[in-house]
Amino acid sequence: MRACLLLVLTVWLNTKDGSGARSSPCALPPSKWCSSLDSAFQCGVLKQCLESNFTRSHEAAEKVSLGLYYESLCPGCRQFLTLIIFPTWVLLNEIMDVELVPYGNAVERHEGQKYTFQCQHGEPECLGNMIETCVMNKSRNAFQIIYCMESSADVIKSAESCAQIYDPELNWSSIMTCVNGDQGNQLMHLNAVKTASLVPSHQYVPWVTINGKHTEDLQEKAMSSLFTLVCSMYQGPKPEACGGSHRRFKSYCHNV
Ligand SMILES: *[C@@H]1O[C@H](CO)[C@@H](O)[C@H](O)[C@H]1NC(C)=O
Ligand SMILES: *[C@@H]1O[C@H](CO)[C@@H](O)[C@H](O)[C@H]1NC(C)=O
Ligand SMILES: *[C@@H]1O[C@H](CO)[C@@H](O)[C@H](O)[C@H]1NC(C)=O
Repeated sequence: MRACLLLVLTVWLNTKDGSGARSSPCALPPSKWCSSLDSAFQCGVLKQCLESNFTRSHEAAEKVSLGLYYESLCPGCRQFLTLIIFPTWVLLNEIMDVELVPYGNAVERHEGQKYTFQCQHGEPECLGNMIETCVMNKSRNAFQIIYCMESSADVIKSAESCAQIYDPELNWSSIMTCVNGDQGNQLMHLNAVKTASLVPSHQYVPWVTINGKHTEDLQEKAMSSLFTLVCSMYQGPKPEACGGSHRRFKSYCHNV
């Protein structure tokens, strides 16, 4: 009866060309391990990837979506993002989406074809906001990179090495081209528009929306117990991390 996992692996091995998949090293970051059967096998997580794909396909409920309106150098934003939102997302990303909008209390002016921006914590903050905006446009691991930047001693100096760590394939000069060019300018304008269209309009940062809504109660709960809030708002079967009865699919194989 220990057959089932072995069967999966054996079938898998038999579909290989016999060159020995085990010898191919796993050279991918964890976020990419499950992206194909090959990579899952090479990285030694085939079983976990199949399970998590199975779980995902059985959880149809809408994810809880958290919107964070913030500024890259605002101390309270950095604490909330790095100490609460990111760790919660690591545990609950299967039932939770995070949308980051770095802009906050900045002010925009339209000058010719371009927009100019003034940021609450000066030029460096405008640069930090812009780097994070371009990273979100170009990397699938943007949240990890932004977390790394915000949790480091120097948000801006750390940016390139954070990108190298969390998205080795990302071309850093394409980020800087975005930062210094029209694309970044347009994307930052969109952040300004999103921020300006908040209802009610924001009075401070970090400013939180849950499923697009902001109330004082939601803000308070998000900042004091985000994990509990997300677990309680999720409409689907609660994942194990929430302490729910819904267990993840697990394939144990027992001796008889
Ligand atoms: C998991 O699902 C994704 C998206 O449906 C798919 O591309 C990937 O190959 C699957 N991974 C495994 C290990 O089955
Ligand atoms: C990146 O920005 C361009 C506009 O400059 C937009 O068309 C595209 O959809 C964005 N991509 C992502 C992944 O946000
Ligand atoms: C990286 O991006 C820059 C600027 O967009 C581009 O000129 C260069 O060809 C890219 N390099 C690679 C290896 O894709």
